[in-house]
Amino acid sequence: MTSTKTSSNKRVIVIGAGPCGLPALKEMLAGGHDVTLYERSPTVGGVFASKAMYHDLHLTLSNWAMAYSDFPNNGPQCYPSGAEYLQYLKDYATHFDLERHIEYNIEVHSASLDNNNKWILEVQKDGKPRIEHADALIVATGAHQVPKGLPSQLSSFKGKVVHSSDYTEPFREEVRQKKLRVLLIGGGESGADVSADLGDLTPNTTVWLRRPNCFGPRYLTKHAEMPQVRGSKTERYAVNMFLESATTNRMSAAQNVFFYGFWRRLLWALPILNRQLSRACLDSTASAWLMNDQATYVTKNQRMCEAWEDGKIEVLVTPRVSAEGETVEFTMPDGSVQRRDFDVVVLCTGYTTTYPWLKIKDFNTDPRSWYLHCFPEKLGHCLFFSGYARPHQGGIPPWPKSNPATSASSSPTPATFPLTTPNEPTATDSPSENTTPSAPT
Ligand SMILES: Cc1cc2nc3c(=O)[nH]c(=O)nc-3n(C[C@H](O)[C@H](O)[C@H](O)COP(=O)(O)OP(=O)(O)OC[C@H]3O[C@@H](n4cnc5c(N)ncnc54)[C@H](O)[C@@H]3O)c2cc1C
Ligand SMILES: NC(=O)c1ccc[n+]([C@@H]2O[C@H](COP(=O)([O-])OP(=O)(O)OC[C@H]3O[C@@H](n4cnc5c(N)ncnc54)[C@H](OP(=O)(O)O)[C@@H]3O)[C@@H](O)[C@H]2O)c1
Repeated sequence: MTSTKTSSNKRVIVIGAGPCGLPALKEMLAGGHDVTLYERSPTVGGVFASKAMYHDLHLTLSNWAMAYSDFPNNGPQCYPSGAEYLQYLKDYATHFDLERHIEYNIEVHSASLDNNNKWILEVQKDGKPRIEHADALIVATGAHQVPKGLPSQLSSFKGKVVHSSDYTEPFREEVRQKKLRVLLIGGGESGADVSADLGDLTPNTTVWLRRPNCFGPRYLTKHAEMPQVRGSKTERYAVNMFLESATTNRMSAAQNVFFYGFWRRLLWALPILNRQLSRACLDSTASAWLMNDQATYVTKNQRMCEAWEDGKIEVLVTPRVSAEGETVEFTMPDGSVQRRDFDVVVLCTGYTTTYPWLKIKDFNTDPRSWYLHCFPEKLGHCLFFSGYARPHQGGIPPWPKSNPATSASSSPTPATFPLTTPNEPTATDSPSENTTPSAPT
């Protein structure tokens, strides 16, 4: 690890070597700053290098949509596995010679501003604490690092509870051998993948969705998704390319929202689509059907719908559940009550975004309140968040690369961090834990 200090520029610390931290490091170096990246794990890759990469995970966006603009992931359009995408991130770090600016196995425990508006960081490496100083901080610690816990309605459930970030091979083997009775919660991408996998491991899988989810197929065909995902590396689907480009924000934003909503509904009615998928999408947007693209996030994976249609899993959609011991009671919208006993609950309920180490009083953790979804109010001269604004459609990793704030740092006029006008520093008393209230958009 070395740093290349230039006299006129800033001392910048980037926290996190995931898909958002790496381009931030690259751009700050290109801007001539003295930059070091601190990463608590022993490798680059963030989530993609962690145990959260469950069995047979493939991206729901293609190699094209998940690539950085300065490091295209060319070749036929496909949906890389988690391991393949991790290799792409490692190649990016190698290509731009980033690793010598990264310090591994070091965790940031606290960051506060002193009276001169400089950062004081308490970090720990190999159990040894030390203090670091910086002019600016780039936070890329990830929005998907802290798993959510059991929903409060099920707090009396007495069986085992496993989060999707712990969906390990030994656990899968236990489910398969004992044919465990599993309640899976959540209809996001983890839920879609894990429910389909469980459907192959045990005949006793029930999915609970608190509301209908909207699903988008990777391929516009009636065939099962995963064989196509695995085999697509040598194939090109014109329709599929169209589907991906037509559902990105740019295309949808360019259209009249009613027109877009209308043709999306027509698409869901097509007989080539999975019936459960069509039903779920129509139900999930029923209350805002002419604005259906804005009505909800789309789970870009139809595997749950396939397993549902094939009778491998049961899906119960209701907001009302309760638990006692191993029994879970579902009160359905028609008033009927369904009871099931479960050995284990698998949580595919997502993650909480939190910055417990950031010691800024009254810090507003909502990314929507930040300038460009990156610069918090009054701290734009010294604090930048990368990767917390989840795009409605499209991948998170390419976004920080194209963000004007980081790209600006490598413009012909260097030292553009700070981008915004400094305001009065905010008091640095210890706050309560900084947690983003809900999924950022
Ligand atoms: C199973 C799964 C699959 C996903 N697939 C996709 C996908 O296909 N496409 C997509 O766009 N998004 C996907 N995501 C979302 C994904 O989290 C982000 O796209 C991506 O990881 C964001 O990168 P990041 O750099 O912001 O955060 P992360 O990848 O979470 O990296 C954050 C890094 O910061 C480090 N860190 C955290 N706190 C500290 C600290 N205090 N001190 C030092 N280091 C610290 C962590 O160790 C980690 O390496 C997926 C998420 C999950 C859980
Ligand atoms: N293959 C891939 O590319 C892949 C795989 C996995 C994850 N990811 C990404 O990783 C991120 C996290 O995905 P995720 O699927 O783990 O989580 P997620 O997208 O946040 O989805 C969580 C699901 O759990 C439900 N839920 C949350 N809290 C609940 C509660 N208290 N009670 C009942 N249901 C609850 C949510 O319902 P509501 O919709 O009602 O809130 C939602 O259906 C996303 O950005 C996703 O795109 C990608």
